[in-house]
Amino acid sequence: MFITFEGCEGVGKSTQVRLLKEYLEHTGQPAVYIREPGSTKISEQIRDVIANPQNTEMTDITEAMLFAASRAQLVREVIRPALERGELVICDRYLDSSVAYQGYARGMGVDVIKKINEPAIDGLLPDLTIFLDLRPSEAWRTFKNTDRMEQESADFHDKVYEGYIAEIKSSNGRIVPVKPDFDKKVTAERILEVLRKKGAIK
Ligand code: TYD
Repeated sequence: MFITFEGCEGVGKSTQVRLLKEYLEHTGQPAVYIREPGSTKISEQIRDVIANPQNTEMTDITEAMLFAASRAQLVREVIRPALERGELVICDRYLDSSVAYQGYARGMGVDVIKKINEPAIDGLLPDLTIFLDLRPSEAWRTFKNTDRMEQESADFHDKVYEGYIAEIKSSNGRIVPVKPDFDKKVTAERILEVLRKKGAIK
């Protein structure tokens, strides 16, 4: 099964992926853990180009294609082979991030983003996506403001949220919203419940 995590900045997504990893390791359920952009040698190099705050001249289409390029490498080098071996794959961000950030927030449009990503994902959509449903203005972590994406305005990050909400509606139940609690263990339990119900974990 291929499971992805999505959400706005500062909602505790990476913490939840870590807590899930701890739980699965503790209960003897093996999985492959990756994050986007990155997780292959080439994808990490692309990540550095995307995140570099000095790359102020980067055009929207360049950015969208770099995310897609990083994804194309990850799908072929890691995700698809792992799924073919019957392994559980857990990925921190995937296609829905491009739809929300580049499609909605950058205003490039969902169709353009899906078209760019078609050859990148080669038909591989997640079986299940956990969306941590918190508005960026309500998030408890203040942004580090060190990378190019995090330096975007509050308005940009609000649009990302609205984009996700629109995508949930058209996802036919693939994207499941989970409300983060201030207590990260409560959030983790909510996520486990969804994953168990969908038969992804024991
Ligand atoms: P990261 O430091 O991994 O952020 P987070 O911890 O919030 O996941 O950086 C990834 C950044 O790139 C984040 O701002 C979201 C953005 N992003 C896109 O804009 N489009 C994409 O397709 C992906 C995968 C990420």
